[in-house]
Order: sequence, then structure tokens, then C-alpha cells
Amino acid sequence: MKIPVFDLERYFAKYEFSTKYLLSCSDCQTMSMHELAAMASEAARPLWDGLELGYTETMGHPLLRQAIADLYPGLAADNTLIAAPEEGVFLLMNTLLKAGDHVVCISPAYQSLHEVARAIGCGVSDWVLDEQNGWAPDLADLEKLLRPETRLVVINFPHNPSGAVVSQDFLDSLYALLDARGIYLLSDEMYRFLYHDQVQPPNPACGDYHRAVTLGGLSKAFGLPGLRLGWLATQDMDLLEEMSRFKDYTTICHSAPSEILGIIALENREAILDRQTRLIRKNRRVLEAFLKEHDARIRCVLPKGGSMCFPRLTFTDSAQAFCENLVRDTGVMLVPSTMFRFGDHHVRIGIGRRDFPKVLEVFSSYLAAVV
Ligand SMILES: Cc1ncc(COP(=O)(O)O)c(C=O)c1O
Repeated sequence: MKIPVFDLERYFAKYEFSTKYLLSCSDCQTMSMHELAAMASEAARPLWDGLELGYTETMGHPLLRQAIADLYPGLAADNTLIAAPEEGVFLLMNTLLKAGDHVVCISPAYQSLHEVARAIGCGVSDWVLDEQNGWAPDLADLEKLLRPETRLVVINFPHNPSGAVVSQDFLDSLYALLDARGIYLLSDEMYRFLYHDQVQPPNPACGDYHRAVTLGGLSKAFGLPGLRLGWLATQDMDLLEEMSRFKDYTTICHSAPSEILGIIALENREAILDRQTRLIRKNRRVLEAFLKEHDARIRCVLPKGGSMCFPRLTFTDSAQAFCENLVRDTGVMLVPSTMFRFGDHHVRIGIGRRDFPKVLEVFSSYLAAVV
């Protein structure tokens, strides 16, 4: 398969480990392996201390699969497949899609959510979110995009990069629309568990729609991307089985230490998520004050969930050129919307890290000085 460059990932590869300040990260504050391992329960400690480094089960460690199923009411361990999150997108699309199929994906979106389908030979239509309406998707727009050969619709809420969230009513209507046409749904829920203010989290798609596949993982809300641990969850056992067979050509099975650390993270999920949520809410207040101060330069729909937002820079015709100057002059790395192939007016700001107020301050001083 030939596939175009993943713009966002290459941008991170260029700056993530070399520049001084990161202001566009999508993952929340991480922790050390020592800290995580120390959280192990009596039951999990022997799994870690006595771990042997042989191959693991293709579908994933049974205890890990059970811990994941516990996140999805109505689903059992058998309804889950362990994969690195990015690998999950690849497994699903390569299993479900063939050249000539049609796919609809929300836009803007994390590139693999549409690029893998395109590389398989599918036609892909953008379901563009409406910034004027809080980055909400419109079902009437989707209906116009659907075709007889539409096989898959792809959504991602809480949304990367805007932090938009959809309601349960919206999802119920979406399922009815797709079910009537026999269309599958990939619901990328990598940012689940992060909700702000009074937002009511909707149910996971995999429990409510029989043709839905939920993508989840520990990279974002849990702040553990180094585990490379994600999963696919679905009621469709045939699809799950087929995806596991495709995995024989990607990773075969997951990393043994990562699986056990994943079990420990999930058994401590309340404590970990509580800490992350408190940090994000604190950072969001800092963000609001910053936006007020720079009202004339930046317009932003405040995020309802997730760990980022996608403000519009009103003072320049090229967010990318501005970001290049910013990183050169201050060491602050900010991702421009060109990395999402979504115009050149927005930037992504991540609010999940402990150093966010400090890095935002550097950015704020720069803005005040140069704009
Ligand atoms: C929406 C979305 N889906 C999937 C992924 C892939 O996650 P990972 O990098 O942990 O493989 C990301 C990563 O940024 C993402 O933002």
C-alpha cells in the first residue's frame, strides 16, 4: 500500500523532542513507569513481578480485555481486541473496506481516519464540522454525502482538534440513519473520559449500535501513549475475528509489559482520570483568561471535552507561517491547521499538560509583542 505522508505526525517528529515548549499536545500529563507500577493492586502485582517476556495472546491478555469490557456496558471481554490505537484504525479499515467503497469522515480529523481508507482505494467525503455552530456536525449534511456504496462513517468525539462533543440524541439519530442503510460506524473515542463543565457524556457507540466499532486507548486521557495500548470494541464478532487475523500482519500480539501496565492503569482509572480532569479544568480556566486578553487576535470555541481546542488566528493569512516564526523565535511549538489539511487560519492548543500555564505565558508575551 502506498500512503501519503502523515503531516501532523511528521510535524511532531520535527519538533517534539528538540524544541523547548510544546503547546499543541493532544495527550494529557504522563507519569513514570515506577509511579504506575506502584499503583498495582495485590492481585496485579504478581502479574508485573513475575512477568515472562514471551509472545502474548493475539486478542490481548484476558484480564486486560475484561478491564476494557468493563468500560462498555453490555459488552464482554470477547467483544474486544487489543491493538496500538493507530493500528486499530488500520486493522478496521483494511478488514472492512475494499477499493471502490465510499467512506464519510468528519473534517477536520486526525489524518489516518480518512487517509487509510483513501489508500485502500475508497472514495472519501468530508463531513465538515461547523465552526459557527461550536464545531457541531450536521446530520442533514451527512445525508447529502451518503451514497449507495457508502460502507463506513467515521466520527471522533471528543474531537481532535476542536474539543467538540456530541449529545446522546445526536448519536441515536446517527445510528438510525446508518442502520437503515447498513452502514458501519468507526467511533474514535480516544478522548473519552475528558468532559468539561456540565457536559453529559454520551454512551460509547459500540454498546448502542450493532455496526459500530469503538476505538479506545490509554494514550490521551490516561496520559500513557508510551504504552502504545489501545483497543477495538464491537458487538460484531465476525468483524472482530477478521480484524484479529489481519493483526497477524501488523504486530501479531501486544507488548507483554505494556499489557500488564495497562491492567494496572485501568484498575486505577478513577484516580488517574480524576487527576487529569482536575488539571484540564484548571488549564481551561487559564485558557479562558488568555483568550479574553487576546480577544482581538484569537477567536476560539471553548472545548466541551478532550484535551485541546482549535482557535482561529484573526491577524494573519497564514497560521503555518506564524507557527514557524513562533517556534524559531521562542521554542514554542504550535500545530497549524495545514497539518490537518484544513485551511491555514487555525492552530491546535493542547491543555492537558502541567506546564501549560508557563508555555501559554511565553506564547502570550510573543503575541503581544509581534501582533
Ligand atoms: C483522534 C485520534 N485517533 C487516534 C490516534 C492514535 O493514537 P496513538 O497515537 O496513541 O496511536 C490519535 C493520536 O493523536 C488521535 O488523536
